[in-house]
Amino acid sequence: MQRIAIYPGSFDPVTNGHIDIAERGLKLFDRIIIAILHNPGKQSLFSVEERLEMLNESIPDTANIEFDTFDGLLVDYARKRKAIAVLRGMRAVSDFEYEFQLALMNRKLNRDIETVFLMTGLRWIFTSSSIIKEAARFGGDVSDMVPPGVNQRIKAKFGS
Ligand code: PNS
Repeated sequence: MQRIAIYPGSFDPVTNGHIDIAERGLKLFDRIIIAILHNPGKQSLFSVEERLEMLNESIPDTANIEFDTFDGLLVDYARKRKAIAVLRGMRAVSDFEYEFQLALMNRKLNRDIETVFLMTGLRWIFTSSSIIKEAARFGGDVSDMVPPGVNQRIKAKFGS
């Protein structure tokens, strides 16, 4: 039986840090499903379709990686996809409180699904989609933090 993990998130947009986590996850799981939360209530820079396209462009080797979208509860989606775990990246201590709450709530909702935290490589430790968008909005160079295609799309969005 395949050991499947869901790697959920907003991925608005995908960063090199996300890709690093997905690659590390593949050492533990047979298959990783990178799942974008479809959340119309949250303002995003890129549409879900654009985010999916960027994932497809940035991770060409999809032998064991799949891209999908979901809405509703993560644990319900994980059960539907027959996943045994939720994969999340842990960067600095500042991530801890939110991740801890999320993991404990998910455990309360479904005790069969474990949350697995992986540390990003040191070079991505301060990389986040939000900080990248903030820097890029004011003309900052983020080209070493995102895949080249994502960098192009960010520049196009901000007209830089
Ligand atoms: O990249 P993000 O925005 O930090 O990802 C957050 C995400 C998508 C993992 C989280 O918001 C989520 O799982 N939302 C779906 C609803 C849900 O199940 N929430 C947790 C229990 S209330």
